[in-house]
Amino acid sequence: MGKLEECWTDCTYRWEDWKYCAACVAVVACAALLAVLLAAFGFVRHAAVSVDAATLTRFDLVSSSPVTALAYNLSLTLVVRNPNWAMSLKNTKPLEAELRFDGQQFDRVELAGEGEKHPAGKTRVYSVAVGGTRASTLGTAGEAEFRRENATGAFKVEVALAGEVRYTARYTKCKIEATCPLTLQLAEPATAGGSSVVFQKVKCKLAKPEKNC
Ligand SMILES: *[C@@H]1O[C@H](CO)[C@@H](O)[C@H](O)[C@H]1NC(C)=O
Ligand SMILES: *[C@@H]1O[C@H](CO)[C@@H](O)[C@H](O)[C@H]1NC(C)=O
Repeated sequence: MGKLEECWTDCTYRWEDWKYCAACVAVVACAALLAVLLAAFGFVRHAAVSVDAATLTRFDLVSSSPVTALAYNLSLTLVVRNPNWAMSLKNTKPLEAELRFDGQQFDRVELAGEGEKHPAGKTRVYSVAVGGTRASTLGTAGEAEFRRENATGAFKVEVALAGEVRYTARYTKCKIEATCPLTLQLAEPATAGGSSVVFQKVKCKLAKPEKNC
C-alpha cells in the first residue's frame, strides 16, 4: 500500500507525464477493485438462524398396544438470515429441520429443496407445523424423561437445522448445521380459546464450520 501511495503522490505532481500517470491510475483502480472483490467474496459470513415463535398444543405418550406412541402437535417459525451482502446461497442438498425430544428424532420436515437460492442479505421465514401419533423411539429412558418433564408442564424440544450450500463464486460446498434448544410450555389450541403461552425468541447455535467454509 505504501508504494501505491507514493505512486499516487508522484502522479499528481507529474500530470504532464501522462503515461506514467495512466499506469498509476490503472494500478490504483485495480487495487480498489481487488479490495471490493475480496470484501464481497473473500470471506463467508455464516447464516444466522433463530426460532422466533413456537407453539406446542399436544405432547403426550399414548400407550396403545402393542407400541407406545408419541402424539404431538407443534408449530414453529424458523428464521434464516444470509448476512452476506454479495454472496447468495444455493442449496446443494435440501434444507431440513429435525425435531427431537431427549435426543430422539420424532419428526423431520423439508424447508427448502435442493437448488433453491437464498439471495444475499435476505431473510427467509419458514413456518413449520407438524402433528401426528407415531410409534415412540424414546425407549424406557426417554419415556422416563418424558414423564419427568410432563410433570413440570414444559418440554425440552430441540430443533436441528441441516443443509448444505454453495456460496456465489465459491467452489466448496458448506454444511449448514444449527441446533435450537427450546423449552415449550403446553398451550391450549387457539381454537379452544386457550391462553397463549409467551415464547422467547431462541438463537440457534451453529456448528463449527468446516475448512474453507
Ligand atoms: C402427562 O400429564 C398429564 C396431566 O398433567 C396427564 O394427563 C398425562 O397422563 C401425563 N402423561 C404421561 C405419559 O404421564
Ligand atoms: C393436531 O393436528 C392434527 C392434524 O395433524 C389435528 O387433526 C388435530 O386437531 C390437532 N390437535 C391439536 C390438539 O391441535
